[in-house]
Amino acid sequence: MKRKPLVVANWKMHGQQAWIEGFVSEFVRAQGPLQHGEVVLCPPFVFLAQLQAALKKTLIGVGAQNVHGAEQGPFTGEVSAPMLKEFDCTHVIVGHSERRTLFGETDATVAARFAAALRGGLVPILCVGENAAERQSGITEQKVREQLDAVVDFAGPAAFANAVVAYEPVWAIGTGKTATPEDAQEVCAAIREEVENIGSPEIASNMRILYGGSVKSSNIVEIMKKADVDGALIGGASLDPEELAKIVKFHAVSE
Ligand code: PGA
Repeated sequence: MKRKPLVVANWKMHGQQAWIEGFVSEFVRAQGPLQHGEVVLCPPFVFLAQLQAALKKTLIGVGAQNVHGAEQGPFTGEVSAPMLKEFDCTHVIVGHSERRTLFGETDATVAARFAAALRGGLVPILCVGENAAERQSGITEQKVREQLDAVVDFAGPAAFANAVVAYEPVWAIGTGKTATPEDAQEVCAAIREEVENIGSPEIASNMRILYGGSVKSSNIVEIMKKADVDGALIGGASLDPEELAKIVKFHAVSE
């Protein structure tokens, strides 16, 4: 079965109200017609409503950068899946390496967030990946399998039936270093195999796997040619509407 390519823009803690208006009009002009669900923009929470309104007449989706594991409660600074749903979010990133390394998120908290997204009708985009030391010690696939298993322990073997996995080597994020297309393929294939083992062949073959880590218009084509890479999660380059439009065009062309 052919999986539909997906580009997810992770704006991280960037953006301003005035910038968003300009971004949307430039991006829409530059990228031309889209299919529904091909592109999802993930702004900081405070811009969700504005972005949703600006994208109303387009097929571009809106997602969030994180979600809490509970529906509501005394969790200062957090946002829940039902709240994101109210803003018509379709997707939410969970377990990004910046959340894990800078904000103390663990496999267990990530699993709870993943499960909350599913309960709330959002598609979780689970980020997994090794750091430089883990790659050097040859434990990349083991690390990624552990991160997937933690989610399955919590959310059950069908966890990935409505989810996306993003393979993001930590050493490639925001560094300008990209995994080679061969390395990206190898790990993405291992991810699919693990999901097949714990879920089912059908879940595994339907699931989209993104690559993330210094993706640009100059490297997207080679990465997208790989059989198990179904799209990209883009940080830095997604802040430039022309560059993001090129990435979207190139990833579709190489489908
Ligand atoms: P980058 O970020 O494209 O700037 O490397 C990717 C990510 O953090 O998802």
